[in-house]
Amino acid sequence: MLTEALNYAGRTDSVRVRAPAKINLHLGVGDRRDDGYHELTTVYQAISLYDEVIVSTADVDGVTCEVDGAFAAEVPTDSTNLAVAAVELLAAEAGVTPSVNVKVRKRIPVAGGLAGGSADGAAALLAAAHLWELNVDRAELLRHAAKLGSDVPFCLMGNTALGVGHGEQVAPVADNGMYHWVVATADTQLSTPEVYREVDRLRAAGDGRYSDDVTELSAALRDGNVRTLAAALRNDMSQAALSLRPQLREVLTAGMADGALAALVSGSGPTTLFLTRDEHHANALAGRLRLRQVTAGVLVATGPVQGAHVV
Ligand code: C5P
Repeated sequence: MLTEALNYAGRTDSVRVRAPAKINLHLGVGDRRDDGYHELTTVYQAISLYDEVIVSTADVDGVTCEVDGAFAAEVPTDSTNLAVAAVELLAAEAGVTPSVNVKVRKRIPVAGGLAGGSADGAAALLAAAHLWELNVDRAELLRHAAKLGSDVPFCLMGNTALGVGHGEQVAPVADNGMYHWVVATADTQLSTPEVYREVDRLRAAGDGRYSDDVTELSAALRDGNVRTLAAALRNDMSQAALSLRPQLREVLTAGMADGALAALVSGSGPTTLFLTRDEHHANALAGRLRLRQVTAGVLVATGPVQGAHVV
C-alpha cells in the first residue's frame, strides 16, 4: 500500500523515482477497434535501463519541466511530456493546485519501442502522489496510469506481466528467470501510431495475423528457461517495423550471426533486442555488435526488474 510507504517516508519537498524501460516478450496485435486502439495480447518485461523523475515543490503555481540526459534534446517540456501530463492529471483528480517542478533524467532512448515516455509518466505519477502525501492505493494509481497511455500501468507494475485490452490491463506473470539482454538502439525514431498503421496495411494485404497464444512463453517463464524463452519470443509489429526501416533486418541478422539465442524488434521499434545465455555472453555479444557499427548504440540490460519506485 502506498499509504504505508507515505507514512513511513514522512513529509518531503522533493521525491525522486526511478522507472524502467519495458520490452515485449510477446506482442500480439489484433484488429483495430472502433476507438482507434488495437486489441493486444502482450507480455511485458521491465529491464534495467532507467529514467529518473524528480518532482519538487516550487514557489510558483503550475507545473514546470526540465529534461537532462543523453536524449534530452528530443523530449518536450510541455503537457505532451507524459511526466507533466501525469502530474497535471493527479492534481486534477486529487483537487490539488500544483506548484511543482518536474525534472526528467532521460537515459531511455526516445520513441524507440522501450516505453521511455510511459516510464516517465509512471514515475511522475508515483512521485507526485508521494510529494502530496495522497491517500491513493496501487489500484487507483494503475487506473490513473491507464489514462496516460497503454504502457504506463505496466511501467508502474514492473517485473513480467500480461497486458490485454489495448495493453493497459496488466496482471503479473510467474517468471523464475533472470535474463540478459543486449539492446541495440537506432539513431532514428519510429512513431508508434505509424507502425500500427503499417500493421493494418500489411494485414489488409493478407500479411500477418494476430498471435494471441502465450502458453509456450508462459511455460518458459515459469521454468526460467532461457532456451525455451528464446523459441517463444514473438512480435506481431516486427514485420511492419521492418517494412518502415528495412535496415533493421541487417542488425537482427548481425546479432544472430554473432551468437544471440534470439533477436527481435522491441515493441514498435526501431530498437532491437538480443537474448543471451548469461552476463558474460551478453557483454561478449555487445562487444561484437559495437565493432560492426550497424547500430547507433549497444547496451546490456537484465530483466525482470521492479517497476517505478521511490529512491
Ligand atoms: O496508449 P498510447 O497513447 O501510448 O498509444 C499511442 C497510439 O498508439 C494510439 O493513439 C494508437 O494510435 C496507437 N495504439 C494502438 N493500439 C494500442 C496501443 C496504441 O493503435 N493497443
